Amino acid sequence: MKTVLITGASEGIGYELSQLFANAHYQLILVARNEQKLNAMCETYTSNGIKCTYFVADLSIMSHVERLADKIDQLPFKIDYLINNAGFGIYGNSTELDWEKESAMYQLNMISLAYLTKHFSIQMTKNGFGRILNVASIAAFQPLPFMAGYAASKAFVLSLSQALNEELKKQNVYVSTLCPGVTESKFHNTANTEKKLLGASFFPVATAQEVAQYGYKLLMSGKNIGIYGLLNRIQIGLLRFIPRAFIVKIVGIMMK
Ligand SMILES: NC(=O)c1ccc[n+]([C@@H]2O[C@H](COP(=O)([O-])OP(=O)(O)OC[C@H]3O[C@@H](n4cnc5c(N)ncnc54)[C@H](OP(=O)(O)O)[C@@H]3O)[C@@H](O)[C@H]2O)c1
Repeated sequence: MKTVLITGASEGIGYELSQLFANAHYQLILVARNEQKLNAMCETYTSNGIKCTYFVADLSIMSHVERLADKIDQLPFKIDYLINNAGFGIYGNSTELDWEKESAMYQLNMISLAYLTKHFSIQMTKNGFGRILNVASIAAFQPLPFMAGYAASKAFVLSLSQALNEELKKQNVYVSTLCPGVTESKFHNTANTEKKLLGASFFPVATAQEVAQYGYKLLMSGKNIGIYGLLNRIQIGLLRFIPRAFIVKIVGIMMK
């Protein structure tokens, strides 16, 4: 039986991904901060014959991330699939954002993701099999005024994952990058983008279930990058033909 480790499994895209892996009878290891939700999920999965373990960890704190990796190493099975999904964004004037919150976002979106990718890819190369799905965003492809740090963190995820995929695929370890567009989830409540992104008529909105289904297929295919949604793919494709400075200006007007 193959095992999947999913971070940010208690909500949104991560929750939907856990459902898909449960339906396919994978063994699940779920990680998030909300113990009540993880416990309820594991109870449901276990009652349906799916093996499920959960770990409560705040992945914006490095010691929690290291402790989590240590605990998982002690389990009597290996990780075949890793999904680095936990992440959050912050919207606002950069000069007014709380640095504590911003640095927690950088830690969660970048350092913890990089650490878990490294930790488990070492084991996967030894095992001769591994599939990693790192969740970025379409924001990874261009700077995003008023969500500058968030977009930069996702550009890091995209660049890191694409390069690692090239390094590791010869050892049968593939790193795929999922780039969702605007997706209905608690993300927008946390980021304060309910009106600006979720409610804006010019952005196509997907459900977390749709994005998870797409991400699941992407991971299984071992393809390098997946941008969810035709309109998002067209938009990202067009970026190649437009000067970056112009794009930043337009996006800045849309995001203000
Ligand atoms: N929604 C969008 O429009 C959108 C678009 C592009 C990319 N994305 C990316 O998609 C990923 C999933 O987002 P989502 O839309 O599903 O958001 P969500 O509904 O807010 O879910 C985020 C998940 O991450 C967990 N999480 C948050 N902070 C954490 C922390 N410090 N430590 C451990 N777990 C933490 C949350 O669980 P707990 O609160 O229980 O910890 C939750 O399970 C993120 O990386 C996000 O950047 C989202």
